[in-house]
Amino acid sequence: MNIHFKNTRIKITPEVYEPAEDSFLLAEAALPRILDSNRILEIGCGSGLISAVIKNNTKAQIIGIDINPHAVKCTKDNGVDAIRGDLLSCVKGKFDLIIFNPPYLPTNDEERTDDWINAALDGGNNGRKIIDRFLLKAREHLVDNGRILLLVSSFTDIEEVKSKMLSLGYFVEEICKERYNFEELLVIAGTMVKK
Ligand SMILES: C[S@@+](CC[C@H](N)C(=O)[O-])C[C@H]1O[C@@H](n2cnc3c(N)ncnc32)[C@H](O)[C@@H]1O
Repeated sequence: MNIHFKNTRIKITPEVYEPAEDSFLLAEAALPRILDSNRILEIGCGSGLISAVIKNNTKAQIIGIDINPHAVKCTKDNGVDAIRGDLLSCVKGKFDLIIFNPPYLPTNDEERTDDWINAALDGGNNGRKIIDRFLLKAREHLVDNGRILLLVSSFTDIEEVKSKMLSLGYFVEEICKERYNFEELLVIAGTMVKK
């Protein structure tokens, strides 16, 4: 399957999350906030759509990380450097911007499936299992005044995510939101302000 979006054509393979409203909303939110000098990391790059859009429309440096080896290959085939890893465990150094469209759906044991698409969707029992781990670690990899851009859903309890971010020292801003049927999607920025 192929997708064409913002000067970017990408190919998606079956074991990889197919870009959807959440992917497009995060890409749209990220683009105007990027400086050409930025070093950017995309966690959970999936097909590489968001990273490829950034690469093709800015001069920023971007690299993707995904736990799914098929996603890493897909991202590379779509023209963006990528490495396999669990969140930021394989990363050294600091970034101006870290982007993440995480698995955010509350998922119980019966709903869990034994395939790579589960890794794209399964946010644990409350939807925030991966998000909470990410928020804790991302702080260590931001430059002064560096930011994360995180996609969250009303299914994830947005207020809980914001309160976790505040407790970890992020300055929190809502960047944009869209409603799709019964779900609201929101992009939240979290800035590690230099003290
Ligand atoms: C909702 S998909 C988003 C994919 C792509 N960024 C997009 O927006 O179309 C979430 C992605 O996060 C990846 N992922 C899940 N847990 C991860 C982890 N612990 N470390 C790295 N990537 C992870 C999944 O494999 C999946 O590719």
